[in-house]
Amino acid sequence: MGSINTPDFTKGFPVDGLPNGGMIQGKLGDEDVVLARQDDQFFAVGASCTHYHAPLAEGLIVGEELRCPLHHACFSLRTGIALCAPAFDAIPRWRVERVGDSVFVREKLAALARYPEANVPKPPHSPSSVVIVGGGAAGLAAADMLRRKGYDGPLTMISADDAAPYDRPNVSKDYLQGPIPDEWMNLRLPDFYKEQRINLVLNSRVSSIDIQQKQIQLHDGKSYEFGALLLATGAEVIKLPIAGARDSDVFYVRTWSDAHALFKRIEIAKRVVVVGASFIGLEVAASLRSRGVAVHVVAIENAPFERTFGPEVGRFFRELHESHGVVFHLGKTVTRLNGNEAILNDSTKLHTDFLVLGVGVRPSVTLAEQAGLKVDRGIVVNEYLETSAPGIFAAGDIARWPDPHSGQPIRVEHWVVAERQGQVAARNILGYRERYDAVPFFWTQQYDVALKYVGHAEKWDDIQIDGSLDAKDCVVGYKQGGKTLAVATIGRDVQSLEFEAGMEASLRKQPRATHG
Ligand SMILES: Cc1cc2nc3c(=O)[nH]c(=O)nc-3n(C[C@H](O)[C@H](O)[C@H](O)COP(=O)(O)OP(=O)(O)OC[C@H]3O[C@@H](n4cnc5c(N)ncnc54)[C@H](O)[C@@H]3O)c2cc1C
Ligand code: FES
Repeated sequence: MGSINTPDFTKGFPVDGLPNGGMIQGKLGDEDVVLARQDDQFFAVGASCTHYHAPLAEGLIVGEELRCPLHHACFSLRTGIALCAPAFDAIPRWRVERVGDSVFVREKLAALARYPEANVPKPPHSPSSVVIVGGGAAGLAAADMLRRKGYDGPLTMISADDAAPYDRPNVSKDYLQGPIPDEWMNLRLPDFYKEQRINLVLNSRVSSIDIQQKQIQLHDGKSYEFGALLLATGAEVIKLPIAGARDSDVFYVRTWSDAHALFKRIEIAKRVVVVGASFIGLEVAASLRSRGVAVHVVAIENAPFERTFGPEVGRFFRELHESHGVVFHLGKTVTRLNGNEAILNDSTKLHTDFLVLGVGVRPSVTLAEQAGLKVDRGIVVNEYLETSAPGIFAAGDIARWPDPHSGQPIRVEHWVVAERQGQVAARNILGYRERYDAVPFFWTQQYDVALKYVGHAEKWDDIQIDGSLDAKDCVVGYKQGGKTLAVATIGRDVQSLEFEAGMEASLRKQPRATHG
């Protein structure tokens, strides 16, 4: 039990061994525990993130929050509660006792109630009913938060998908590399919806919203009244007609069932042409290579990710994929499919078993447009994520919100942003009037490279690289007029968290604990 590197907390730990804001992982019997210090207070909490089990001791302490190094979930050191997505479940905590110059971790504390959260005050506002349109990241995070905050009324979530909310980022990653058990994909197990009285209506598409009557209509003729409405309809793939291709020759990757269909074909595939060299195209390419399938990537741009990350990072990703055997055909497009041959616009012929298309998405805003809500390349929301119609909120890929960090109205397609917006929209549905001011964050995983991106830079006049891309150890800063708008990091998780905390501090952010 315990060694010089992994202390045994039952034997005490020297107070001076832990600086203010520091933490260390150790053992308590069989359990891995993080001991953390904030001023003169010591906290002992579970060592694994409840999202994908990252080691929290490799993260960052910000005030009384412990932040995860992988996807920036935040936990309260005091209560263990998951304050912000992508983690939903609390981490365990233990009583800590200071004796002289040592701190001892004692017994495990009982988990606090979660639905509703322990000691949660009555919400300022309780709508007669809440309807959420969309069963993805934002929709589920909102439903979860409504129940956490003690909303007791009727709660309906309507989804065009055939599966309950699932881990969409995995659709192009682990799931395709699989097989993985279905439980890994479900964000919540079926009992959750029953226990929390969430009326989850799957395979159902909302066709119209009547703002005056406060009613939504489904394609199948059913209708639901709402006291408050959250639109979380996400994005839909852009389809590219390819001459000569039958439906069974072309795969798009947005939903779990898309991935399931593709997975079955990968099992017998030998060569595949992927169209598109952005996130979906290249994550799928990496997954196909991990299954031994030969991959050619055809893309109109001259370097992967050039518009998002600039030429240097683009070059790095191109070489990364090439080192795994991917062949690029950049500045080109597929004009037709002739049996098992993809014909490019320069007449190159590529043998392929089928095509995977990852050429982008567009926000699903038709419902909002038809209802007369303000739409401008996304549903326009204010800082509280409320649309132009009071009582109707929007979150996730569809929402264009006033980002206080860039000073611009922005819309992004990031998992953590969608979930956090769902959480904030839920609190605002309950009358908390909380501004959405989280710093945008996303990640991508390709082979052994995880890139994290914090902030938002649509354009820049300078890119600074600290460290080495090729060594997979760097911070890439995107600057405009001398100000760093965003950083991309590889192998520098703490710096990614520090940059995020710095951006928050520059807004003089109020402690999240007031709502947590
Ligand atoms: C394959 C893939 C991998 C990704 N990987 C990453 C990643 O690594 N990191 C990252 O940060 N982001 C990633 N993303 C992006 C991320 O998944 C999205 O930003 C996020 O899912 C957006 O959440 P959302 O709730 O807005 O929309 P979605 O999750 O798309 O959910 C939208 C929901 O609305 C439903 N819907 C749509 N229209 C209607 C209607 N009219 N009626 C009823 N229901 C409707 C849909 O069926 C769906 O349930 C990935 C996306 C994909 C597709
Ligand atoms: S593993 Fe912690 S946020 Fe994903």
